[in-house]
Amino acid sequence: MEKLFSIPLLPVEYERYGALKTVRTLSQMRTLYSDQDSVDRILESGDPVIYEVYELPHPNDETDLLANVTVLYPGRVGREPYMTKGHFHAEPDTAEAVIGISGSGEMLVQNRAGELRSLPVMAGHIAYAGGGWGHRVVNTGTEKLVFFAVSGANIVHDYETAARLNFKPYAEGR
Ligand SMILES: [Fe+2]
Repeated sequence: MEKLFSIPLLPVEYERYGALKTVRTLSQMRTLYSDQDSVDRILESGDPVIYEVYELPHPNDETDLLANVTVLYPGRVGREPYMTKGHFHAEPDTAEAVIGISGSGEMLVQNRAGELRSLPVMAGHIAYAGGGWGHRVVNTGTEKLVFFAVSGANIVHDYETAARLNFKPYAEGR
């Protein structure tokens, strides 16, 4: 794809332009949820899609920006809302910005010392997590949460630290 574009900020337009689409289902992230009985019960009758990521530009070079659109479906596992996997950026741990397109939710951010904060994600808002803050988006609403996220394409995803801390309050996360 040509890395000069102006396209509508919508999943369907991203797909038309050649975005890489990644689908995450519950079975791929089952251990991240607190209520394992609910996970098992849901998976008995299917494997729901939790979110889809549309990545542009694709393929990317390390000098690009990851300018992704994500569709995070509404739903709960037990009392926990559907959420993205969440990750830190490996060192150097660079920033990421999330801009809401439709729906409503939160970006949970946590630093490596365990401090947990929450930033609203909704249409017309930018949620910015500077370096050092791992990030996960949760859909607390009743409709699809669609958002745009941008970070450097040179990042290395650190899922291990995120899974260990798991965006839980410090005492719960241990
Ligand atoms: Fe990120």
